[in-house]
Amino acid sequence: MANVAVIGCGYVGVVSSACFAKLGHDVTCIDIDADRISALRMGRSPIYEPELDALVQEGLASGRLHFLDDYPDQLDARVVFIAVNTPGSQEGAADLRAVRDAVATVATRIGPGTVLVNKSTVPIGTGEIVHGMAHRNGNGPFAVVSNPEFLREGSAVHDFLHPERIVLGSDDAWAIDMVAELYAGLRPAIQRVDIRTAEMIKYASNAFLATKISFINEMAAICEALGADVREVATGMGMDSRISPHFLYAGLGWGGSCFPKDVRALTHMAEAHGAHPQLLRSVSEINHHQRLRVLAKLRSSLGPLEGRRVLVLGASFKGNTDDTRNSPALELVRLLLLEGATAVVHDPVVRPERIAEGAPGAVCAASILEGADGAEAAVIATEWDDYRELDFVNLRARMARPLIVDARNLLDGRAARAAGFEYRCVGRPGEEGLPFPVTPALAVPTGVER
Ligand SMILES: NC(=O)c1ccc[n+]([C@@H]2O[C@H](COP(=O)([O-])OP(=O)(O)OC[C@H]3O[C@@H](n4cnc5c(N)ncnc54)[C@H](O)[C@@H]3O)[C@@H](O)[C@H]2O)c1
Repeated sequence: MANVAVIGCGYVGVVSSACFAKLGHDVTCIDIDADRISALRMGRSPIYEPELDALVQEGLASGRLHFLDDYPDQLDARVVFIAVNTPGSQEGAADLRAVRDAVATVATRIGPGTVLVNKSTVPIGTGEIVHGMAHRNGNGPFAVVSNPEFLREGSAVHDFLHPERIVLGSDDAWAIDMVAELYAGLRPAIQRVDIRTAEMIKYASNAFLATKISFINEMAAICEALGADVREVATGMGMDSRISPHFLYAGLGWGGSCFPKDVRALTHMAEAHGAHPQLLRSVSEINHHQRLRVLAKLRSSLGPLEGRRVLVLGASFKGNTDDTRNSPALELVRLLLLEGATAVVHDPVVRPERIAEGAPGAVCAASILEGADGAEAAVIATEWDDYRELDFVNLRARMARPLIVDARNLLDGRAARAAGFEYRCVGRPGEEGLPFPVTPALAVPTGVER
């Protein structure tokens, strides 16, 4: 079993470290956030992720998992994974400062023959930058491998331990072999490619998944205009194995720490290199419209939203995670506040400080019913299981007006209506077609194919 280091103890870093330790490797995980490291040393994961606390505790007890809040003078690892954050910059490009800092430091602490692995999602060409930096700063030769991560928050441990594929890109076949060996216990399908192709596979995968969601959201808008049910449409489409049922849920649109920044970064890279990413631009535009369409539904039931009290159920960007980065739910809350509404937010796991940070001015509710007091509408904004079976009777008794906008198509609409609610949802019969904002440049004259 190998000595492995992981730089960055965030969603990807902690999950990868704990899982590699479970596979029998000796893992040192380093982060510059001392609070994060002290929590991890006590067996507490800094993020909400099913199964992760137990796995971290198991790793610590086995003696194979170590957490450091500083880089040791000498890092005894044959393979070093870089799993630091690569947020989007103002113009859309990925911000590589954390990667550069991590590589510049770690290169001075490792010996010749060490393999540096980019697990962070990085722009195409970053492998070459890392290679150059490592050689300038350290005692090479080093090899660089791109190993993009495909785990999903909310089921990250499961995804890591049951990979559908491991993508490994490098010019050095021996380095790919060394990284592949770390995953051998999982018997994954391994795709060996050049480093730029590996980097591109990650962006193309996220862009495709975002496209699938925007596609079904566009179908939902058309269903509303034509009186069809998008849920049944998605079911019918999803039974076709060429399409698959995944990522075909109409709703408030995509968000999170990856899709928005990765779609923007890919669009930016394409534009900067003379390509024409017209599909990607539309995918982002449709996504933004999903939030506006929910506001339009609220307005069409309540009139102007100024002074209205709206309960928003959910703050995380999807269920089973406490991650609020680019959360569609919080984006909706900010739009409500901009219109002068009082937004009351409930989430089963997101802490009130995070909600206040993501949507300053929002009121936090400790329970669903507390948040319902005096509300004129309740919006389901995140698909938490806690919201699937709402207590309609008590909810109705606490609300000032019985209106539910189910922006995730989560509820049994008939049960809600039977309990006396006006029930609005996305792309299903009974939802009137709302005018879809069409930018002139995208308008296609009738009869013209494209
Ligand atoms: N979150 C996901 O679901 C997911 C999935 C696949 C890929 N990714 C990609 O993986 C990368 C990491 O994402 P994340 O969500 O885990 O990020 P994160 O923000 O949760 O964690 C990043 C960690 O890196 C640490 N860090 C920053 N600079 C450092 C340095 N110089 N040395 C040591 N530690 C440093 C930060 O303190 C932080 O704890 C990103 O590129 C992301 O796009 C994320």
